[in-house]
Amino acid sequence: MTKNDRANFGSKMGVILASAGSAVGLGNVWRFPYETGNYGGSAFIIIYLGCVILLGLPIMVGEFVIGRRSRTNAAGAFRVLAPGTPWRWVGRMGILASFLILCYYSVVAGWTLEFVAEALTNSFVGKTPADFVASFDEFSTNSWRPLIWLVVFLLLTHFIIVQGVEKGIEKSSKFMMPMLFILIVVLAGCSMTLPGAEKGIEFLLKPDWSKVTGRVFLGAMGQAFFSLSLGLGCLCTYASYFSKETNLTRTAFSVGIIDTFVAVLAGFIIFPAAFSVGIKPDAGPGLIFITLPNVFQQAFSDAPILAYLFSVLFYILLALAALTSTISMHEVVTAYLHEEFKLTRKKAAWMVTSACMVLGTLCSLSLGVLKGATLFGLTFFDLFDFVTAKLMLPFGGLFISIFIGWYLDKKITRQEITNEGSLKVPTYKLIVFILKYVAPIAISLIFIHELGLFK
Ligand code: PHE
Repeated sequence: MTKNDRANFGSKMGVILASAGSAVGLGNVWRFPYETGNYGGSAFIIIYLGCVILLGLPIMVGEFVIGRRSRTNAAGAFRVLAPGTPWRWVGRMGILASFLILCYYSVVAGWTLEFVAEALTNSFVGKTPADFVASFDEFSTNSWRPLIWLVVFLLLTHFIIVQGVEKGIEKSSKFMMPMLFILIVVLAGCSMTLPGAEKGIEFLLKPDWSKVTGRVFLGAMGQAFFSLSLGLGCLCTYASYFSKETNLTRTAFSVGIIDTFVAVLAGFIIFPAAFSVGIKPDAGPGLIFITLPNVFQQAFSDAPILAYLFSVLFYILLALAALTSTISMHEVVTAYLHEEFKLTRKKAAWMVTSACMVLGTLCSLSLGVLKGATLFGLTFFDLFDFVTAKLMLPFGGLFISIFIGWYLDKKITRQEITNEGSLKVPTYKLIVFILKYVAPIAISLIFIHELGLFK
């Protein structure tokens, strides 16, 4: 494919919304709260915010530079910018990570559809918190129901991917993101006024540093990469569709701010409610699915119609947020197969979709009948999550920062960040400094400490 027959995002807003659409998703609303719960609350959030600012934003700018400069898929990008070097393996690792995340992410995305159906049929009414826990357990360990939703979700993603970048991705992000945002703010307000919510707010605001270990740092770093869709060439692929005028630094900041805001607000929905109804914050991947229905039931107990409308709307928006993220993961792999192996987009997309159905099924069943099948003590679901979020993405981020900081000609970086000198970017020097020294050292230290490499 030549430069010119590649699609582009149509507008400045479209660029930001599509990238934010990739970043905002289950990572914010589902994964962030349960990792915060696992790692003890507020201190984790502070370390997470540090990772977003210090590692996430500069690396995002780095990915944008690579993507827009090369105008091709994640693996091709490294081949174009570093021909004949092993750098293309960084792109390939990212593509593999994207594919693996898509497999288990789609399982959880499928759960959101089940909850849309439950909300629509009004089945939250009259249930106690214990009922919600039991019915989620029953559902997630079921051998076929989650699989149907998994397949439905992957097909939805598939058809949008086949429609192409601009029509599919940009349009769906444009209307969904602002709606989700408003609803999350409203729900956070409701949740914080539930009886007993103060304990949850305290959990979010009062750091307990005694719980902080190397594990918490690895978790926070992994979550930052996961939530910002970084380290796997996803935003790099999107940047290949950016126009010459897109301001890379400003786009990265906007995406970072939107993403962080949604995650923190999701925390303010989940924890006050969880403490209010006596659900443990470390309940794991089911946390939001057992907590949220309580928010709708209790916060709107006087107005059942509002409870109904809000729950339906919320799960639809959550499913859409997940969809704009699965689209971005799918696009990374599809663009790679399409451009590098000259398959038609349709054929490439089908290969990705069907392979994901198979591996996704394995992940889904590993919460039920295949619970006993573990590798390194982890179920398939947890293994996919651990290997991607805590290993592959930070490694990808490490290599991307080294690539920009040490390998790529500074002239190219400057041209891209300043749009050929037409923009003043006061943070340019700082970004390059972070990519050169701070990010590689910080990521390596966390890895060395946590993986016990020097023991
Ligand atoms: N950032 C997305 C989310 O928070 C998940 C994602 C990860 C998307 C990696 C693309 C690539 O839901």
